[in-house]
Amino acid sequence: MTNKIQGVIFDLDGVIVSTDEYHFRAWKKLADEEGIPFTREDNERLRGVSRMESLDIILEKSERTYSPEEKVAMAERKNAMYRESLADLTPDDILPGVNEILSGLRERGIKMAIGSSSKNALPILKGVGLADRFDVIADGTHISRSKPDPEVFELAGRLLGLDPSVCLVVEDADAGVEAGVAAGMPVLAVGSAAGHPGATLRAPDLTGITLDAMLNGSH
Ligand code: BG6
Ligand code: MG
Repeated sequence: MTNKIQGVIFDLDGVIVSTDEYHFRAWKKLADEEGIPFTREDNERLRGVSRMESLDIILEKSERTYSPEEKVAMAERKNAMYRESLADLTPDDILPGVNEILSGLRERGIKMAIGSSSKNALPILKGVGLADRFDVIADGTHISRSKPDPEVFELAGRLLGLDPSVCLVVEDADAGVEAGVAAGMPVLAVGSAAGHPGATLRAPDLTGITLDAMLNGSH
């Protein structure tokens, strides 16, 4: 039987690797240093969006305005703090269920890609030892518009050589679910995106879904 889905495009931060928590801690430190209120609830809005757009969201609660040069310097400061935490990445940072899903998809001949807004995707994948497990890596260094724009998923689908309708996007961000839908792809929403009405499939994490459900849409 041919599967409905022939390629799976995974978001990286918060789907494959627990880097979403490291992003939060680095932004929190920057916000504290600047005296800007920033909570975990605020942080939910940063999932899937680019570094500079994330900074703009944080600065919505700032009492002062920052020049473009100051903003670039702040984004660099945050990224330096974030990169420090990435230096300690090990395979233990791979999220539950991921290794099993990647092996199962490979056994069934399903193509796999990363579709991430991050400019740090390659060092992260190398740090956790997964860089060679994907046929395609499309990330923040290849695109000009970040999620919810579909650009990164469209690029990944094109590089996989597949029609969008047979590519499944796996996302933990509302912006990412919207990007997948805009790309014309079915979406498996996990974690904090699991309540998104645009999702085709939902699971708390990748231990909570079978390969059959991912590939044929039935639980
Ligand atoms: C996304 C994250 O994957 O990458 C966002 O969900 C992050 O939180 C974005 O802002 C950009 O990441 P980076 O590594 O380029 O700063
Ligand atoms: Mg994510």
